[in-house]
Amino acid sequence: MSISIVLMSCNNDKMDNTALNDVIDPIEHKIDSIVSRMSLEEKIGQTAQRGKSSRVKKLPENLINAVRKGEIGSFLNIMDKNDAKQLQKIAVEESPSKIPLIFARDVIHGFKTIFPIPLGQAASFNPELVREGSRIAAIEASTSGIRWTFAPMLDISRDPRWGRIAESAGEDPYLTSIMAEAYIKGFQGEDLSSPTSMAACAKHFIGYGAAEGGRDYNTANINEYLLHNVYLKPFKTAVDVGSATFMTSFNDLNGIPASANQYVLKDILRDQWDFEGFVVSDWNSVIEMVNHGFAKDAKEAAEKAANAMLDMEMTSTAYQDHMKELIQEGKFSEKKLDHMVKNILRIKFRLGLFENPYFNPNEDILYDKKHLASAEETAIESTVLLKNKNNILPIPITSKVAIIGPLANAPHEQLGTWTFDGEKEHTVTPLDVFKKDSNYSVQYSAGLSYSRDRSTTGFGEAIKAAKASDVILFFAGEEAILSGEAHSRANINLPGAQEKLISELAKTNKPIVLILMAGRPITLGNIIDKVDGILMAWHPGTMGGSALKNIITGKVSPSGKLPITWPKEVGQIPIHYNHKNTGRPVIPEEFVHMDSIPIAAWQSSLGNTSHYLDAGFLPQYPFGYGLGYSDFAYSDVTISTTNPNMGDVITVRVKITNIGKMKAKETVQLYFRDLVGSLTRPVKELLRFEKITLDPGVSKEVIFTFSTDDLAFYGPDKKWITEAGAFKLWVAKHSLDETNELEFVLR
Ligand code: GLC
Repeated sequence: MSISIVLMSCNNDKMDNTALNDVIDPIEHKIDSIVSRMSLEEKIGQTAQRGKSSRVKKLPENLINAVRKGEIGSFLNIMDKNDAKQLQKIAVEESPSKIPLIFARDVIHGFKTIFPIPLGQAASFNPELVREGSRIAAIEASTSGIRWTFAPMLDISRDPRWGRIAESAGEDPYLTSIMAEAYIKGFQGEDLSSPTSMAACAKHFIGYGAAEGGRDYNTANINEYLLHNVYLKPFKTAVDVGSATFMTSFNDLNGIPASANQYVLKDILRDQWDFEGFVVSDWNSVIEMVNHGFAKDAKEAAEKAANAMLDMEMTSTAYQDHMKELIQEGKFSEKKLDHMVKNILRIKFRLGLFENPYFNPNEDILYDKKHLASAEETAIESTVLLKNKNNILPIPITSKVAIIGPLANAPHEQLGTWTFDGEKEHTVTPLDVFKKDSNYSVQYSAGLSYSRDRSTTGFGEAIKAAKASDVILFFAGEEAILSGEAHSRANINLPGAQEKLISELAKTNKPIVLILMAGRPITLGNIIDKVDGILMAWHPGTMGGSALKNIITGKVSPSGKLPITWPKEVGQIPIHYNHKNTGRPVIPEEFVHMDSIPIAAWQSSLGNTSHYLDAGFLPQYPFGYGLGYSDFAYSDVTISTTNPNMGDVITVRVKITNIGKMKAKETVQLYFRDLVGSLTRPVKELLRFEKITLDPGVSKEVIFTFSTDDLAFYGPDKKWITEAGAFKLWVAKHSLDETNELEFVLR
């Protein structure tokens, strides 16, 4: 073992503490040594990420020459394996410091085998499945040399008008944190240096999901307490579980664009959380600070981003064009640049790129049957049964079934947003499987060609198919392009003439099961009473058709739960379960619907509480809601103490019994409420959940343990505190279920 005399720097600047690392971590020693020999141009080069349009076939000479000079550190979207190999060979053999490139891609919910969109995966409440799917995505992506994915997206999303809610894990910080860990451990694997591991990228840091009006890229105003108590939580988990990288968001946060926001990038991420990976900007977000009106030109944008410790610039070239000048002018320091470069090299070392810069192009593993089976299982567990009137589902196998709707046979749409590398030829659609692999007698008539189709010319055929059947399976929803980045919608009902067709089909008096494929909750007010069953499949990915066949035929019970509150009307948004109580909470029994208000009613006769005269005060479906083909009894709910001391561990037990006729899964949820705080506290917060599988008639005791520290919040003193006082707990089927209430007084 080498004994090194560690000369600790006298000042506390974190940047000089790498000497200590030399003793502990030889990588740091190598990094310091490389950086000490790099030219300024090379250092700036490491902060540069370049891409090329997949429409440009030949690698531009300027990119090749820049790599040769060491002036590019990373590429995104280089999907030609020969290009990737050529660029890497030049980097490690010809550039001055022989530093390998890192190749990145948006591998969000699968590479070739496509899994449900992340909002759907969150609905599975099954982190083990999500971790497995992310591991599979990394294995498949590594065959193209991708060692860095721009995922997971951890933006808390409370507004389904926002197109990117599809990429999120929904509205809850705890569920999103659990999903963050699953994705990051899946992508990065047990050993980040394994050739099939990908560096994760916690994004978008931060506040993107709070875009005003749900309009993408819009400003986000989040007070410090909400920022810490809601939006930052999953990103703290990302640091704790070792996410290699972070990505900044497009939005300005309280007036300061995220790519130059020192409070979140330096004070929190670096100084408080000790993050030691690197931070990349989002696409052109550095130079977009000029559009924001936060920088007068690209040079000032570079100065502000660099001084906020943004390590790498994606696609724009403000650092490349202006950093040398900024250093010469004393507006930025080479010492800080060294720190940025060390962050980048640290991840390249940890990825093993210095030892093994090349990749195994063998594609045998793509679409491996185990991968497809995992994608199908995840699609099954992501599907949420929202309505099942008269137990219309499952449908008996001897039925005559009319398959109708624009998403019944839409192999591209079914994959959802952010599926650049998915291939629709591999998609198994509902029509595929119901025709080939079910005992149903199937009549198919799309009725509409695509989700936005307003033509009624196909209605006649569809109605004819319906009349000849026992039951209608209507596959509705959104094309993939209607969700995802830049695709916010002001109205979130079914597009095109889908509602019209459903209304016409309802006139046949045949029962209708509505199966939704969409990237967001869809407001169903106009047709919800016209359908008997509703399944939300999200965009379920490659194996969505098989998953839905297994559910609809009753081979397996649906088990998904909503990760997002489902509004009745778009006017209710933002609507989320962990809201504040206000000074005038609604009194349900006093609510008078607008249509029932007497003419010339006295102004204050309706009760002055927080609700809508028309939409009331409840969502269509609450966070955590989802039905199954069986039912579960909750009993013997106990708490280990009703007077815990600060720091105690508290245990809650509940017996769950499957009182139905079918094996099924149940996600048991534990919520708490801090009744009085030095800040107003949410009426409910998800504290724990556990998904269990029970055969009919079988019981299982579920045990939740938590410490009083888990009840802490970021308080007025800008510290995390748990305050003494009264708390309530609920062991629940969903966020509005208060059947099993417990309380305790914390001393
Ligand atoms: C996009 C997205 C980001 C993505 C990046 C690279 O604009 O905002 O999530 O990872 O650019 O494609």
